[in-house]
Amino acid sequence: MLRQPPSPRSLSVMEKILNSEQKTIEFGEELSQQLHGGDILFLSGDLGAGKTTLTKGIAKGLGIKDNITSPTFTLMNIYKTNNNIIKKMVHIDTYRLEDENKLYEIGAEDYVGAPDSVCLIEWPEKIEQLTKGKKIITIKIEHVNNARKITVEN
Ligand SMILES: Nc1ncnc2c1ncn2[C@@H]1O[C@H](COP(=O)(O)OP(=O)(O)OP(=O)(O)O)[C@@H](O)[C@H]1O
Ligand SMILES: [Mg+2]
Repeated sequence: MLRQPPSPRSLSVMEKILNSEQKTIEFGEELSQQLHGGDILFLSGDLGAGKTTLTKGIAKGLGIKDNITSPTFTLMNIYKTNNNIIKKMVHIDTYRLEDENKLYEIGAEDYVGAPDSVCLIEWPEKIEQLTKGKKIITIKIEHVNNARKITVEN
C-alpha cells in the first residue's frame, strides 16, 4: 500500500543491473510502491537508455492500464491511476523542448509536485524553473553492454 510521506526518507533499492526490458519494467513496478504523492522523478540517461520503459513499469505498479507512449511532441501526458493517494501519473519528455515556457503554457506547473500526483521527467536537464527548489529523486540509467545500470539518488 502507498502511504502518506514520512519525510525525509530514502528509497530502498539504490543500484541495480537490469539485463532485460522486462527487468526494467519490474524495477519500475517495485519503485512505484515506494513513491509518495508529490514525488518528482528525474529520469536521466542517454537516448534509448530505458527511461520510457521504466515509466511503463511505474505506471503498471500504479495500476494504470493505458498504453504508455512518450510525450515527445505533446510534452506532457497525464494518466489516472487506480490508487487513492497517488491519483495521477504525470509524464513529461522534454527531448524536443526548445523553450521551458512551453511547459508553463500547457499548465505543467499545476501538475509538477502536486500532492496527488507523481511526476516523471525524461531529459530533466532542459528544465530549470519548473522544479526549482523542489525535492527531486534522480534515477540514472546507463548502458552497460546490452544491459542497464540503474541508480536511485534521493
Ligand atoms: N534493462 C534493459 N536491458 C536491455 N534493454 C532494455 C532494458 N530496458 C529497456 N531496454 C530497451 O531499450 C530500448 C529503449 O528504451 P526506452 O524507449 O525506454 O528508452 P528511453 O530512454 O526512453 O529513450 P529516449 O531517449 O529515446 O526517450 C527499448 O528497446 C527497450 O526495450
Ligand atoms: Mg523515452
